[in-house]
Amino acid sequence: MRRPEIRTALPGPRAQQLIQLDATYVSPSYTRVYPLVVDKGSGLWVQDLDGNLFLDFTAGIAVNATGHCHPNVVEAIKTQADQLLHMSGTDFYYTAQIRLAQKLSSLAAGEETHRVYFGNSGAEAVEAAFKLARWHTKRELNLAFFGAFHGRTMGALSLTASKTIQKRNYNPLVPGITHIPYAYCYRCAYNLTYPQCHLFCVRWVEDTLFRTTVPPEEVAAIFVEPIQGEGGYVVPPPEFHKEFCAIARKYGILYVADEVQSGMGRTGKMFAMEHFGVAPDIIALAKGIASGMPLGATMAPARIMNWEAGSHASTFGGNPLACQAALATIDLLEEGLMANAGVQGERLMAGLRQMQNRFECMGDVRGKGLMVGVELVTDRERKTPAADWRAGIIQRAFEKGLLILGCGQNSIRFCPALTVTPDEIDVCLSIFEESMQEVAG
Ligand SMILES: Cc1ncc(COP(=O)(O)O)c(C=O)c1O
Repeated sequence: MRRPEIRTALPGPRAQQLIQLDATYVSPSYTRVYPLVVDKGSGLWVQDLDGNLFLDFTAGIAVNATGHCHPNVVEAIKTQADQLLHMSGTDFYYTAQIRLAQKLSSLAAGEETHRVYFGNSGAEAVEAAFKLARWHTKRELNLAFFGAFHGRTMGALSLTASKTIQKRNYNPLVPGITHIPYAYCYRCAYNLTYPQCHLFCVRWVEDTLFRTTVPPEEVAAIFVEPIQGEGGYVVPPPEFHKEFCAIARKYGILYVADEVQSGMGRTGKMFAMEHFGVAPDIIALAKGIASGMPLGATMAPARIMNWEAGSHASTFGGNPLACQAALATIDLLEEGLMANAGVQGERLMAGLRQMQNRFECMGDVRGKGLMVGVELVTDRERKTPAADWRAGIIQRAFEKGLLILGCGQNSIRFCPALTVTPDEIDVCLSIFEESMQEVAG
């Protein structure tokens, strides 16, 4: 069984040099949690500049859906690169963008033809959804959730409610957004227990919010992650979205699914919202869509995406290379990777749940497919967040050659490429267990 190989102290000498240069020349706003300088990657394995080999359970923050440098994706990019690098879909037509829009429309739930707007990132996909919802409804207010991460451009940031550091010094933001509690049942904002709560968090919006401070007929959209990502890999109860969406529809409010992290097969279905039986009005996509090429997509039924020429556009959005990478990615997802995400996700969850019997600090294990989170607590009864342990475990895992990342205040996320094998899951589990034993055992 292939295992990580760590040959130098970390960071090694070559990595150290680059990290020093980075400190001089690169924006200090980035949040690197360990000193990894990546040289190359293949599948789930990445090599650093000093020849150390790591098992990557981050997939470049849930982006490399098909693994690092999948040959089909690389081939699609190379072939396109020989033909056309850029022309701008804003002012001209080219095949890759049109074909990808057609393909994405075919993946959307329901019978309606969807149209697609292309940007370069998750934030741009959300930004476009935000503008489209306002344009289409001519309404000014919006709802979003505490714990949500929708991106860092001013509009997307206004919807985000993840960490204050992301907003500090940037106010005033876009007005008219009300944040409400998500169905984070492990830490219910109302201190209730599912299912006896009868989804009080949903009913509260209609019974209290819409009756007191937010006139529903002025609300353009509800922005929601089907499963919260940066907020802690929080999976809501099965009927949460259906009930919320029903309220939205009652008042002519658009239900906007931010599938930037949860979409493109990661949860075992093409879009995570499919687990909840809801067809959203607008879907925002990015991250895994093009296996690492920068691409964002916002899609909606043609009756909703009916804005006029000139109302929104992007020079680089839907670049031909990114679109070809996306088409190759979607083929791979449909040919088996999406199904693999479901199967390997269960193996990962089962392994973690077994571990939970032995480790008091694993307060909650949750997820769908390969979007799996472990919430760490110092004691299970009080659920005291164990943020320091979280940092220690991630660091220790890195030193042993396993790449993982945090999410939320005190959770660890596992979001490997959808190509992950049973052996790779098992190696991840064993290194994670060792790391946890050493830090919090
Ligand atoms: C759900 C969600 N929406 C939007 C974004 C923003 O994406 P980007 O960093 O590509 O702008 C992210 C990024 O983590 C995300 O997880």
